[in-house]
Amino acid sequence: MSQKERNEIADSGWKLQKVTDNDILFTFDCGNQDLNEYFQIDALLHKEALITQTYYLKATEELDLPVALIDLCNDSIRLKKFSQIPDLPENKRYPFLPSVKITRLGVSLPFQSLGVGSHLINMVKRLFITRNRTGCRFLTVDAYNNDDQKAIKFYQKNGFQHFSEKDKNKKTRAMFFDLKRISIT
Ligand SMILES: CC(C)(COP(=O)(O)OP(=O)(O)OC[C@H]1O[C@@H](n2cnc3c(N)ncnc32)[C@H](O)[C@@H]1OP(=O)(O)O)[C@@H](O)C(=O)NCCC(=O)NCCS
Repeated sequence: MSQKERNEIADSGWKLQKVTDNDILFTFDCGNQDLNEYFQIDALLHKEALITQTYYLKATEELDLPVALIDLCNDSIRLKKFSQIPDLPENKRYPFLPSVKITRLGVSLPFQSLGVGSHLINMVKRLFITRNRTGCRFLTVDAYNNDDQKAIKFYQKNGFQHFSEKDKNKKTRAMFFDLKRISIT
């Protein structure tokens, strides 16, 4: 298996893969200028610094245009953060549990509210329980806590939970998804 194959996943005609040609980032518009700029400028610097990796979702093999972009980095969650301790082996309790953080996510404007973002999240969940080099138990995100609650509702719809109510008035809310819920091994 090549390095490229390990870092991509296909489903029902959609493909999620790493961004290798940065030119495809410059036409991307998810309606949030800060996010667009992040993907076009900061994400490249973060990648060079080995902090994050940007993946893109495309609809067809032929057209190399991102329908959605997602930026990811390694993360860990302090066990004490959970209000309910996750199901873990009894003999070893790690103080931190391994996870992957969704640092940024945007769906291209014409494709929003059509289920594309949810499909992307499902593909990311599968990506991190398949052919892993290291253990990864959770996906995490700091979701925008805007008045419309759009991002929070989006993550809730996709099975993410809040750690606590302590951040309910903050600009972003920390959320997690337990990959054990879909893991078959
Ligand atoms: C938030 C975002 C990623 C969601 O992706 P999407 O493809 O539009 O979402 P989906 O179509 O899969 O919708 C899933 C759920 O999200 C919520 N949602 C999506 N669009 C919404 C809207 N316009 N208003 C309120 N809730 C919405 C709903 O709960 C929806 O479920 P439903 O279809 O049963 O009502 C996308 O709208 C986006 O890129 N927005 C701009 C950038 C942003 O806010 N990113 C989030 C970073 S934390």
